[in-house]
Amino acid sequence: MPPSTTPAPLSGELLDALRSIVGAEYVRTDQESLTLHGQDETEDLLFLPAAVVEPDTTAQVSAILTLATRQGIPVTPRGGGTGLSGGALPVFGGICLSTRRFNRILEIDTQNLQAVVEPGVITQKFQEEVEKAGLSYPPDPSSRGSCFIGGNLAEGAGGPHAVKYGVTKDYVLGIEAVLPNGEVFTTGARVLKNVTGYNLTQLIIGSEGTLAVITKVIVRLVPVTRLKKVVLVAFETLEDAARAVASIFQRGITPSALEFLERAAVQAAEERQGKHFPNGSAAAQLLIEVDGNHEEALTEEIAAIAEVVEQHHATDILLAEDRQKVEEVWALRRGIGEAVKSISAYKEEDTVVPRAHLPQLVRGVKEICARYGLTSICYGHAGDGNVHVNILKHTLDEETWERVIDPAIREIFALVLSLGGTITAEHGVGYTQRPYLPLALSPVELRLMREIKQVFDPAGILNPGKIFPEAGV
Ligand code: LAC
Ligand code: ZN
Repeated sequence: MPPSTTPAPLSGELLDALRSIVGAEYVRTDQESLTLHGQDETEDLLFLPAAVVEPDTTAQVSAILTLATRQGIPVTPRGGGTGLSGGALPVFGGICLSTRRFNRILEIDTQNLQAVVEPGVITQKFQEEVEKAGLSYPPDPSSRGSCFIGGNLAEGAGGPHAVKYGVTKDYVLGIEAVLPNGEVFTTGARVLKNVTGYNLTQLIIGSEGTLAVITKVIVRLVPVTRLKKVVLVAFETLEDAARAVASIFQRGITPSALEFLERAAVQAAEERQGKHFPNGSAAAQLLIEVDGNHEEALTEEIAAIAEVVEQHHATDILLAEDRQKVEEVWALRRGIGEAVKSISAYKEEDTVVPRAHLPQLVRGVKEICARYGLTSICYGHAGDGNVHVNILKHTLDEETWERVIDPAIREIFALVLSLGGTITAEHGVGYTQRPYLPLALSPVELRLMREIKQVFDPAGILNPGKIFPEAGV
């Protein structure tokens, strides 16, 4: 593990003031708490906060931020700690503001198909509660078992079902949030259509905790679909699999998930979970799910998908339709990220291109990595053109790794951009992708973003060291 920054300690007075806001037991300065909140699921990065503060009400968040702005203390908001770009790492120390205690589902409105929820609710828990009411909240990042809704908003999280149902931002109708100066405000309304002024809701979604701290969320819900079928399609080459993706949509089918899995990704999950994945030995496979309420319609869609993938030289097509099998396949898929990362030191890139360009992306990534002597493992949401490229250090010596990794990533991003894509689809810029932002955004876009940051957070205390390339550390 690389050395962590040693945070400047907070003054006794400030700690006392924080204790009087949230209660002494919710201001943590013990080493274990600091270490736990000094990391997320991004590489092996560790940046300790000086204190972890766990408020329970919007008024407490407001009081903490007012104090921090006055004293110039960095505040890093934190959800479930499952981020993949270091967005919740307190890179300048200061206060880690945990939303852990904001864990109430305030309302499930079955008349209007909406819910009001606090940011610290675990995404899967929320989905399960909503399902009990016969409704569905589709955004499902792979970390849904431990990530928080607030973190999903902050990072603009996606997930495998985005291809049909959209990502987190597509479900949010409004929020309550707190500015760094302590002002509480709400955005949006409990309506499905709203053009009343600038869309501040969507500005804050994906702003990675750099503009305001989210304290309440209004989402829309959709009816539950009753039936699901999954097909696993094996291919002899990565490019065959990648080529089949766009053809499925061209055929008029919108799968509820369409995932691309390279063999090494599947094998990593098999080893970690001690389970066997169907088609585990195929060079690449597509995990294709269709859902709906009519058995016959799904059977027809599966038949059409089978025809399309055969034209792309599929070597095997396996159907999973009973609930348990489908769940098993998904559990394995969701575990891939963690499994791949356990192999060696790594860098993860969250590439996205228009889906018809997936074959060029996959071929290009392999070619670039091979040229630099690097191993890559690709998997992800092919239906969205979104491929997670994990570059592994393996046995490469430290000096070579340090020398080649940055130019390799830059070449991969240059390829992605030349294909009309961009450098992150759902993991965010956070701490790790900052140096690459100018590759993807124009100077005008960057200037506008800096000016927006300035309006919300003139003192620069909220999640400093994120998004902007010059943010330092
Ligand atoms: C996934 C995470 C890594 O798709 O985004 O599993
Ligand atoms: Zn993903």
